[in-house]
Amino acid sequence: MELTIDGYTKILGIIGDPVEHSKSPVLHNYISTCKNINAVYVPFKVSPDNLSHAVNGLRSLDVVGFNVTVPHKNNVMQYLDGVSEEAALIGAVNAVKNIGGKLWGYNTDGDGFLRSFREETGNSFLNKSAVIIGAGGAAKAIAVKAAIEGVRSMIILNRTVDRAKELSCYINEKIANCCAFAGMEHIDVENAVMGCEIVINTTSVGMYPKTDKSPIEAYSLLNDKHTVYDIIYNPEKTELLKSAEEKGSKAVNGLGMLFYQGIYAYEKWMDIKLSEDEIAKFYTKFKEIIQK
Ligand code: ATR
Repeated sequence: MELTIDGYTKILGIIGDPVEHSKSPVLHNYISTCKNINAVYVPFKVSPDNLSHAVNGLRSLDVVGFNVTVPHKNNVMQYLDGVSEEAALIGAVNAVKNIGGKLWGYNTDGDGFLRSFREETGNSFLNKSAVIIGAGGAAKAIAVKAAIEGVRSMIILNRTVDRAKELSCYINEKIANCCAFAGMEHIDVENAVMGCEIVINTTSVGMYPKTDKSPIEAYSLLNDKHTVYDIIYNPEKTELLKSAEEKGSKAVNGLGMLFYQGIYAYEKWMDIKLSEDEIAKFYTKFKEIIQK
């Protein structure tokens, strides 16, 4: 099916800075084409100084919805008309929907992560012990989800210990008293990895182009009982995932998180529910496109 833009075409997009690397336009335009939905999804590079103008402009232009990426996921909230309970809890919005001229913010990163984690690792958080590396926005979305899902214990490890402490206290106060924190000293990392079943990297360490880096070096402690999830998907296998696999751990990258957050956003914008078959087909195609 060809994409034809006419007077009825619905506008979707993504605001971020940088935005050129985003895979979302490819995903959403592919879905619209397959579903024969008259919509187009475009990247909008928006600097922090222009964020309020951009959001008000998108509202004025009556776009159907848009994604929000780095560095605007927190700051965008003040310019919206409301946010979902989950977005408020995570403190970040990655998808906005225009409902009758009002802009509503959602967070589909957490749900996207959870679905990918469940399906692709075959594991769950219920009564498990997890280590989260990093304490930024991605870590918060994942830690909130893990806590809601009933993780038994969770340790946040971060280079800047104060941020790990802040996130850990937030989880303990707002969701469940399950969270500890530490820095990235060798001994802290070793103790945390040794005592856990799930390791999740939420930092950018190991991402292209610095692919020789790894957020932790405690590989010797990984074994076939561990599940290791790295939110990085470029490269397909980070040093962390390669080492985890060598040690027999279940190792999964973050492509599924990216894909499913997009699926959930698309369903919200268009008020549709995609079938499991469609989602599986889109995921196969998405992987093909990304890995080209
Ligand atoms: P995001 O919203 O994508 O999570 P972020 O809020 O900037 O981005 O958080 C990035 C995370 O990666 C932080 O935990 C950061 O550690 P600091 O809080 O100490 O900055 C971590 N991170 C980024 N680069 C890192 C590096 N070279 N070594 C260790 N941690 C790093």
